[in-house]
Amino acid sequence: MKSVFIGDVQSGAHDGAEVELKGWVKRTRGNNNLRFVVLRDSTGSIQCVVKRDTVGDEVFALLSEALIESSMILKGTVKVDERADGGHELAVLSGNVVGGVDPERPFPITESAMVAADGGETEFLLDNRHLYLRTSRMTTMLQIRSSAFGAIHGYFRDLDFVEYQAPNFVAGAVEGGSTLFEVPYFGRTAYLTQSWQLYAEAAMPALERLYTVAPSFRAEKSRTRRHLTEFWHAEMEVAWASNDEIMQHGEGVVRRIAATLLEERSDALESLGRDLNTVERYAESPYPRMRYDEAVETLQGMGVDIEWGQDLDYSKEKVLTQDFDVPHFLTHYPKVAKPFYHRVDPDDDAYVLCHDLLAPEGYGEIIGGGERTWSEEEILARIDEEGVPREPYQFYIDTRAYGGVPHGGFGLGVDRVIAWLAGADHIREVIPFPRDSRRVTP
Ligand code: 4AD
Ligand code: MG
Repeated sequence: MKSVFIGDVQSGAHDGAEVELKGWVKRTRGNNNLRFVVLRDSTGSIQCVVKRDTVGDEVFALLSEALIESSMILKGTVKVDERADGGHELAVLSGNVVGGVDPERPFPITESAMVAADGGETEFLLDNRHLYLRTSRMTTMLQIRSSAFGAIHGYFRDLDFVEYQAPNFVAGAVEGGSTLFEVPYFGRTAYLTQSWQLYAEAAMPALERLYTVAPSFRAEKSRTRRHLTEFWHAEMEVAWASNDEIMQHGEGVVRRIAATLLEERSDALESLGRDLNTVERYAESPYPRMRYDEAVETLQGMGVDIEWGQDLDYSKEKVLTQDFDVPHFLTHYPKVAKPFYHRVDPDDDAYVLCHDLLAPEGYGEIIGGGERTWSEEEILARIDEEGVPREPYQFYIDTRAYGGVPHGGFGLGVDRVIAWLAGADHIREVIPFPRDSRRVTP
């Protein structure tokens, strides 16, 4: 292990002390007698000054020749220096290269390759994703991502929810057949799960309050800024709860994520150019609620071509959310726009008791949820009405035969929430190895 991290040195914890730094070369420059090696680790970077006179010819040659991303150990004295990046510098006393880089095969992700990638050559960065992870932008995204996951677990565990796991190989669709991944399964066909929900509902009478954070799979053919074929899904299910109460939790967990990022990752957000006041607004403001009908009228008023009964696709959500300053819940979608499990509104059976949470700045849907059809009779009627086969859902129907109760839950797209809060242009930016219809490598 190592005991000294560069971030701690830069924050002043080792001023004047002799330390041993372990890391990777970010860049190097200098002349025959003096080299500046910028060393990075997971916590930051620091300029290390190597003098031939101090370290001797052999070590000087070794350190001077080390290429970008060579790993090395440097011992030296920490100097406070206002002019240096981060305010500190290491005056190197000795050092050695641990893992070198072959000059025939230099690290491919150079500053100029990054600049070029901004101009659209992102395939290059995606092909080299295993190396791109080391860049400061990606490291920052991964740190933000970790805090977001921690916030979700923290939110639910603080409220005594039980973390519960469902299978990933399943026999039927949750969110419609068009995005199901088929998997050969010993002479039969299985599918990769689109959602934990149906198996969570089976455990609802046992646990009452349950959640998960797990991958879900959707065979999304179109490549968009907000779709992955494998994404991380935070889902929850609560017994005895109404659509309104479920929305309270949706609002609660999203606000908790925003607050946690401000607390743990404000420097990271700023380094990405994110305005902290905006994130603060998301952490502190209540999220308004709007019925689907009102959203459709608003869109029609804006000249958008939409008919009542259609689900809102991205193009419509984008327009609708452009002027929102905080996320908005859209409730009471038409029954025809949603899968069979949504509970029909007892006040008007053209609608279901559901909600989508739409993020502002054009990001769109980040949560989908609502109340469930909980009586056996109604669920059978809804399955038949939708023309869905009963057979794969036998277990799901059966749970209704033994003490059904009102209940509900939601699913939150974790990658989408992170992309929105970090202000990323594309969902791919926030997940280490993004999967879409064209890519399963590296
Ligand atoms: O709205 P969805 O399809 O709802 C469900 O899956 C419910 N069964 C959840 C539940 O009630 N337990 O998906 C929920 C969320 C979406 O709002 C979106 O944020 C995210 O999952 N999502 C995706 N994220 C990235 N890539 C995709 N292809 C996604 N599909 C859905
Ligand atoms: Mg949805």
